[in-house]
Amino acid sequence: MKKILILPGDGIGPEIVAEARKVLDCLRADHGLQVEVEEGLLGGCAVDAEGAPLPESTLGKAKQADAILLGAVGGPKWDSIERDLRPERGLLGIRAALELYANLRPAVLFPALASASTLRPEVVAGLDIMIVRELTGGIYFGQPRGIRTLDNGERQGFNTEVYSESEIERIGRTAFEAARKRGGRVCSVDKANVLEVSELWREVMERVARDYPDVALSHMYVDNAAMQLVRDPRQFDVIVTGNLFGDILSDTAAMLTGSIGMLPSASLNAAGRGMYEPIHGSAPDIAGKGVANPLATIMSLGMMLRYSLDEVALAQRVQQAVERVIEYGLRTADIAGDHTSPVSTAEMGDAVVAALALN
Ligand code: IPM
Ligand code: MG
Repeated sequence: MKKILILPGDGIGPEIVAEARKVLDCLRADHGLQVEVEEGLLGGCAVDAEGAPLPESTLGKAKQADAILLGAVGGPKWDSIERDLRPERGLLGIRAALELYANLRPAVLFPALASASTLRPEVVAGLDIMIVRELTGGIYFGQPRGIRTLDNGERQGFNTEVYSESEIERIGRTAFEAARKRGGRVCSVDKANVLEVSELWREVMERVARDYPDVALSHMYVDNAAMQLVRDPRQFDVIVTGNLFGDILSDTAAMLTGSIGMLPSASLNAAGRGMYEPIHGSAPDIAGKGVANPLATIMSLGMMLRYSLDEVALAQRVQQAVERVIEYGLRTADIAGDHTSPVSTAEMGDAVVAALALN
């Protein structure tokens, strides 16, 4: 039987994961999903309980699991502790330890939410972009890194942006495969006019493209891509890019859809094992208030069903249930605008569970 590890994390993490858990339990009880479920600690809560953001016990469970559902990590409480103990280190550590190099971040606009976007509805209507972000390399992990003291006594911070051919090739293949199942276009984003690492990135992408004659490859500099995303986002189908550029561009893409609270993500390794998490953070300002939007986490569970558990029909069922509650008019505060009275985190989760029975 497949094993799922749940890592609620910090801030709103436990609240939103609890709602995804309701959906998961409903799928097990009523829709024949057979999985084993375990929980573990990651992030600030793990620092508090075990003195490390990624305890050995969690790493052990993660390595045994077929898929991981993560809430969010981090918060002001842990911002000033030693760098290696920060919650974010736990997240980066688990990505690296499981070699979750392929980060899929879809940015899809729900038609009923077009007015929640800060861009005009006619610019974002029908938006459907897939950002494929490299997740275990680049400047996030490159060596050397650190803060050193120069001869003149001044301190200097440094990091290294580095990509090997094999790293570029495998994320390229992920992007081309994804494009094949979508609009057939890949835009590779780099900074090849300045950086050697991007020059190599571009060259390898061209090489990979030869294996996918049915997919059209284009290149764009990252500054232009940032501009094009807000000027005319619908020109994009699949965007493939490195770790840092992908981090930045995926937040922009998320906001186009009206709420960062609506977007799921998958981080996969070569074997298709994956970690699934909402792309928003732990939102400490609203933690514990029961107002967070659980839909990104619930849709992350949907991605898990599709990509790691081979349950495509159930994945569609979850997606439809989410679409239904949105069409029905339910809104958490982040997507409520001025006209609707918002529902709570738990009410939203309950509504999705109720909608699951309708399909
Ligand atoms: C993300 C987050 C993380 C990242 C942080 C929390 C380390 O911003 O998943 O986009 O930068 O990768
Ligand atoms: Mg980010």
